[in-house]
Amino acid sequence: MMSSWSGVLPTRRAALGIAAAALFGSAASASAADGKLVIGLVLPLSGAFADQGQHYESGIKLFQKINGTKVAGLTVETVTRDDQGPGSGDLARRLTQELIVRNKADLIIGYSFTPNAMAAAALLTEAKKPAVIVNAATSILTEKSPYFVRASFTLPQLASSLGNWAAKNGVKTAYTIVSDYAPGVDAETWFKKTFEAAGGKVIGSARTPVTEMEYGPFLQRAMEAQPDAVFAFNPGGDVSIAFMKATKERGLQKAGIKLMVTGDVVDDNLLPAMGDAVDGVISALHYQVDLDNPANALFVKEYRAMFGAGAVPSYRVVQGYDAMALVYKAVEKTGGNLDGTALVDAMKGIKLDSPRGSLLIDPATRDVVQNIYIRKGGQKDGAWRNIAFDTIPDVKDPAKAP
Ligand code: PHB
Repeated sequence: MMSSWSGVLPTRRAALGIAAAALFGSAASASAADGKLVIGLVLPLSGAFADQGQHYESGIKLFQKINGTKVAGLTVETVTRDDQGPGSGDLARRLTQELIVRNKADLIIGYSFTPNAMAAAALLTEAKKPAVIVNAATSILTEKSPYFVRASFTLPQLASSLGNWAAKNGVKTAYTIVSDYAPGVDAETWFKKTFEAAGGKVIGSARTPVTEMEYGPFLQRAMEAQPDAVFAFNPGGDVSIAFMKATKERGLQKAGIKLMVTGDVVDDNLLPAMGDAVDGVISALHYQVDLDNPANALFVKEYRAMFGAGAVPSYRVVQGYDAMALVYKAVEKTGGNLDGTALVDAMKGIKLDSPRGSLLIDPATRDVVQNIYIRKGGQKDGAWRNIAFDTIPDVKDPAKAP
């Protein structure tokens, strides 16, 4: 920092440091003394992706319903703020700051979207407050602050699994269609890298606006290139429903082109809105509702007790649930010490019996190591489902693998 000091004008970084000292100097863990653990939640609760915030919140509530609102003798309080979804990240940064300074949050759980997590990174570092990333999935995020721990997934985990699968299953050429921002670039890069290393060839690519709802022209151009397969990523909700419906309307699969998507595009809870558009679609994800393990049996049972007998949880509910599980375990490990650095250190190496299967926080990268399930869309018990036919165990973020 000092090497970039230039005369009387403080650099941006120095200015940030000064501002942080002023802002956070008095914010140090007041709540441990009053017997509270305060968790700030920064989630999209309005706008095009409002459903996502509700899913994470449901997961957090479900975890507390099962495990209670006390940990290591502390009463757990959550304070929720709406970051309104993807954008510049300015709002997410401001909300994060307010939660830490005004609400005395000991840590944050949040960020569905990469730009929001990215914008908060420097602030979290200066404040020395941990943030458990509830979804944002661009690989590099965890390198942007030593206080980030990820409870979700990385796009390279999913895209590389599909790139390898495609090359081994007769796909020779592919065309990629991804949302035009960091996670989309990660998905495109890692699909291409793994697919081509195994002998395939990407013959064309398109990047679409993050909230695109009209995929017809993009699909038309992809079909004209006549690839064996289309690989796609887009960030869930109505955007992914629009994408999947457009593939059906354009007759992509009817034309003999295989469709492969990152599993967030065909999240279990979106399938009723997509109908037979998911027929035959290959996807990769770290969770699906019918996983056969004791943690998932409990999770689904309690979810249905909360939301109704036929309710199908989004994978995002699991991420909220696991984020909370990580926090509880870390606070147990520190014996109720809420110092931010102690909490991050405690999260390193934690293993959870998650509804998704076993989950490990890689102590070296603070990223999640987990099973990736390869699935095919089909009918089961009279409904459209993602039917898993392969499990790739203990996948690390390939972008960080040595
Ligand atoms: C992200 O912005 O990192 C992101 C958002 C939604 C997804 C996946 C990744 O479904």
